[in-house]
This record gives sequence, structure tokens and C-alpha cells, in this order.
Amino acid sequence: MPTSQLMTMLVFLIILVHIALVSSLNLRPGYYSETCPEAEFIVRDVMKRALMREPRSVASVMRFQFHDCFVNGCDGSMLLDDTPTMLGEKLSLSNINSLRSYEVVDEIKEALEKACPGVVSCADIIIMASRDAVALTGGPDWEVRLGRLDSLTASQEDADNIMPSPRANATTLIDLFHRFNLSIKDLVALSGSHSIGEGRCFSIMFRLYNQSGTGKPDPAINPIFREELYKRCPLDVDQNTTVELDSTPRLFDNQYFKDLVAGRGFLNSDETLFTFPLTKKFVKLYSKGQDEFFRDFVEGMLKMGDLQSGQPGEIRRNCRVVNSVADHLVVGPQHRMESNHKSI
Ligand code: HEM
Repeated sequence: MPTSQLMTMLVFLIILVHIALVSSLNLRPGYYSETCPEAEFIVRDVMKRALMREPRSVASVMRFQFHDCFVNGCDGSMLLDDTPTMLGEKLSLSNINSLRSYEVVDEIKEALEKACPGVVSCADIIIMASRDAVALTGGPDWEVRLGRLDSLTASQEDADNIMPSPRANATTLIDLFHRFNLSIKDLVALSGSHSIGEGRCFSIMFRLYNQSGTGKPDPAINPIFREELYKRCPLDVDQNTTVELDSTPRLFDNQYFKDLVAGRGFLNSDETLFTFPLTKKFVKLYSKGQDEFFRDFVEGMLKMGDLQSGQPGEIRRNCRVVNSVADHLVVGPQHRMESNHKSI
């Protein structure tokens, strides 16, 4: 690449980083204390009801923070439905048939729009709801920084290029997190989010039957656990069948790390954190100390929540569509149902 082109790229990068830093400085706790004092109570209340209705749904919503923030910052872009002119993120490789419980965010948004119309962004809803998912399942509770705007667009291509595969190894994951200024410690602590929720057989078929083209399972899987997985995910299984990500999937605790130490991690991207030396020490630390895990997890969530694109934004009225499009649609439950069909 010619030097001038390299320089232009570098300047562009510096500007981007600068914007990202400047805008994250605008985020602060209590952002809605004047404009929508009930906001955080409303979000927690809807999350509580979601937990009672369907326990897994809160884990599914918590995952949104990762999938939103890594793709062009925490801007609610992953909530946008496709339009005739925009391929959004819902159908991207990592999200299709996988991200779920969008309707919980819709419910939160509707409640917030009733209480204080046009004030609370969908991007902030994701951040509050993720925190609540953790707190409501036995994990730490913390104060979140708020004041994000919702994006005016979304990119399937960016999501495809950025979001990691369940087959990823530790080196790839370390590099990816590093690009977002997240350390090895952040990577391991944030992976502890797999303490709640489930994954599809689809995500582990290669690992069970043909790891790295060997025609054999991943040797890091504990043999007893491997037999269990063969039963849960036989070769002819409907690959949308799900399995718990750790042995206490409704509880946010450090069992995930204990499972990794025992060779009982579900995804390749989980177990690799124990087999790779640079990540192993954190897995061991968290497997013995839940407090250390909780402390580093919160720090990681705050850092990840600060990722911003610096692009212009708005407060969407409906998290699934940008306002300019919503203005031309009959917005309301009818549109929501149509969107549901398209995206789940
Ligand atoms: C380190 C890289 C990561 C990879 C490769 C990864 C990959 C995955 C995969 C493949 C699944 C199961 C999806 C399926 O089979 O349909 C999953 C589930 C999940 N992920 Fe991750 N993930 C990572 C990091 C994170 C982070 C940082 C968070 C949140 C902070 C997160 C939260 C979750 C949750 C809560 C679930 C369960 C969702 C449910 O039950 O619906 N993950 N992840």
C-alpha cells in the first residue's frame, strides 16, 4: 500500500478513536434522572417479568450487548429490521436463527415510550437490560453509564466480518478483543456471560464430529461430557436443538469457569480459554474466586458499553425501524408482528 494511502488510513483511524473517546465521555450514570426518572425501574420491571415468563429470555437479551457494541459501537443497530434498501444485522452469520427475544426489548421500549416519549434510546435499553439480566440471575449489580443514541443504519456485512465464530480459538479472540481495546482479562471475564443461557447443536457439530478436519472430536472435551453431548446432539439432530452453556444455566455464577477446568465447556471458543496459556490463568482464577470474576466482568461490561461509533444518531420511537422510515409506516403492533416474522 502506498505511504500516502497508509497515512490517510491512519489519520482516519485517529479521528475515529478520538470521536469514540469524546462521545463515550458524554455517557454518564443517571443520564435520565431528570428526563425519565423511572427509566431504570421500568427496564428492570419488564426484565423481571420476562424472566418469570421464560427464564432463558434474559440471557438472550444480555447477549445483545455484545452483538450491538462490537458492530459499530453500542447504537442499537442490531435491533433494526431489514428494509428494501438496507440489509441489517439480524440475518448476519452469527445472529440468524440465534439471537432471540427481540420482543423483550420491544416491550421495554413500549413501556418507556408510554412513560416518557422520545427520551430513552434503544441502545441504552440494551445496556440497562443486560445489566439487569445479570443482576436478576444472581450476578453482580452495577451502575451503568447512559446517554447513547440509536444508529440510523445497520450493516449485515460489518456484523459478518466482526462477530466471532463459536469455532474461534483463543488467539483469534484475543486479537478481536484487542481491536476494541479489551484485554485478555476482559475477554475471559466477558466470556463468563456464558454462565447463563443456551447454545444450538449447530454451534458444536464440527467440534463433536470433525474438529479441524480430523474426523474426530475436540480432544479437550471431557470424555463423559462428550458422551452426553453425543446424546444431546447426535449427527442427525435438528441443529436448532439447544444445550445449556454451563451446568447452572439459570444462575449467573462462576460455574462456567469450573466447567471449563473440567473440560466441560460447550463451545470451542469457551474451552480454548482453558487450553491456551495466556487465558488459562484467568479461567483458573475465576473458577476459584467468584468475587474476582464478578469484579472483572463488571469492568469489562462497562468498557464494552463505552464503545461508540461517533456517527450521528437519534432516539428511535420503535427499536426495529429508524424514525424517518417509521414516519412512512403504520407503526404499532401490526408492524411489530410483521417484523417478528422476518427476523426470528
Ligand atoms: C468471546 C467470544 C464469544 C463467542 C465466540 C460467542 C459465541 C456464542 C455462541 C456461538 C452462542 C450460542 C449461539 C447459538 O448456538 O445459537 C452464544 C451464546 C451466548 N452468548 Fe456468546 N460469545 C462470545 C462472547 C460473549 C459475550 C462477550 C457475551 C456478553 C457479554 C455473550 C453472551 C452470550 C449469552 C448470554 C449467550 C446465551 C444466549 C441465549 O441463551 O439465547 N457472549 N455465544
